[in-house]
Amino acid sequence: MQKSLLTQALGRLTGVTQRRFAGHGLQVHRDSDVNNAKTKFVFTQENLKRVSAITANFPEGHKAGAVIPVLDLAQRQHGWLPISAMHEVARLLGMPRMRVYEVATFYTMFNRQPVGKYFLQVCATTPCMLRGAEDITETITKKLGIKPGETTKDGLFTLAEVECLGACVNAPMVQINDDYYEDLTPSDMNEIIDEFKAGNRPVPGPRSGRLAAEPLTGLTSLTETPKGPGFGLQKGL
Ligand code: FES
Repeated sequence: MQKSLLTQALGRLTGVTQRRFAGHGLQVHRDSDVNNAKTKFVFTQENLKRVSAITANFPEGHKAGAVIPVLDLAQRQHGWLPISAMHEVARLLGMPRMRVYEVATFYTMFNRQPVGKYFLQVCATTPCMLRGAEDITETITKKLGIKPGETTKDGLFTLAEVECLGACVNAPMVQINDDYYEDLTPSDMNEIIDEFKAGNRPVPGPRSGRLAAEPLTGLTSLTETPKGPGFGLQKGL
């Protein structure tokens, strides 16, 4: 019995590890043709102004605090984050390169390998999984012919399975570039992909008809008219 529990636990752990790798590639850097210290990366003049604006928010001696927004800017400019961009960020912020690697490898928002034009991140954590996240991943896999960690041959779509994206009340959900698509069914997912293929941007948000995260069946609390200011106070006050 004990052995089977241990086996199950290890199986789950391995599953999570595989999922992480499938979502974002190796956790360590390996030089490749497209990702090495010589990969061309320079901030555009426009983005250099943005870097100055960001670093101006931090006091002298603490510019390293700007590392996340500046890395994000580098990623937005390049489409993903090669190691040469990390070196440039380290140079601009006066940080040891290792400190930048630590940040870029910790946060999964940084893509250290090329991704497609549309980066589909399916949340696979418990609430989304209980609400059908695996069906969403399967739908994408069937429709696009890619598994988590892969990119379509035309370079349009990359699929990843990720940990909780903070929209559990609207599970299951997928983040595509900067947008959240929520309360998904497999047919919603097919429609969303078709829209992107057609060159459109599907309307982000819940697909269930909800505006946000309110109860699907109507209000369940705070249903009476608000009492207004002064409610419950002593008359003398
Ligand atoms: S579990 Fe999916 S968004 Fe939190």
